[in-house]
Amino acid sequence: MSKTKSENTKKEAIPTIKIYIMGQAYDVPPTLTIMKAMEHVGYKFTRGSGCRAGFCGACSTIYRKEGDFRIYTALACQTMVEEGMVLAQLPFVPADKPAYDVNSLTPSANAILRFFPEVARCLSCNACSKVCPQDIKVMDYVQFSLQGQIDRAAEESFDCVSCGLCAIRCPAEIPQYHVAQLARRLYGKYIMETPNYLDERIKEIEEGKYEEGFKEIMALSKEKIEERYKKRDMESS
Ligand code: SF4
Ligand code: SF4
Ligand code: FES
Repeated sequence: MSKTKSENTKKEAIPTIKIYIMGQAYDVPPTLTIMKAMEHVGYKFTRGSGCRAGFCGACSTIYRKEGDFRIYTALACQTMVEEGMVLAQLPFVPADKPAYDVNSLTPSANAILRFFPEVARCLSCNACSKVCPQDIKVMDYVQFSLQGQIDRAAEESFDCVSCGLCAIRCPAEIPQYHVAQLARRLYGKYIMETPNYLDERIKEIEEGKYEEGFKEIMALSKEKIEERYKKRDMESS
């Protein structure tokens, strides 16, 4: 039997799952990320959202699952909703970041401990590594920093997006991602081999070689800039 026109045009019901946001129940499509599901039900991100692509670390989220006592952590823009998720957004993670001048330091454990003495209190509990949405071995880079292995600390923490989730689980009150940032700065300043073309490029910039090019780009529309960006030459590693 053939379908009538109205049967053909009738939309199939979209399946939904139940999630809870700040204690309120909502039915949302299971195909959404946490961020999109929250927007779907009417929340507007004025804070706690940036790149929407897993790079900026602004969308730290904690959640529980029904019948499970554990607290899970995630980036809201990178994690799909699940049936029974109980969600809470973190506006930001407060963690002290000391001021320092990387030019006056040496790439050593002393530099780390001078600004982050709490690193010496690390209990090796590994709670930080378990919550990292980037699957970074956070405890390892903390230990490398403590041992003065700045290159290894920088390398291990390279994918850190500074979401701060590790810091909220640390019983020793270590702001791991700030420690890692100092390690990477020390690495970049004192250890990393400088590309041989860098001095040449700086000289060219100071001599104004790229002024015309900058002016041309500044006059482009957003769409044209995006087009150029996608077609750019990539530096080979
Ligand atoms: S190391 Fe910490 S701040 Fe960096 S991505 Fe992992 S949890 Fe986030
Ligand atoms: S959570 Fe804190 S104390 Fe535990 S391993 Fe990580 S840095 Fe060390
Ligand atoms: S919004 Fe940037 S990591 Fe999620």
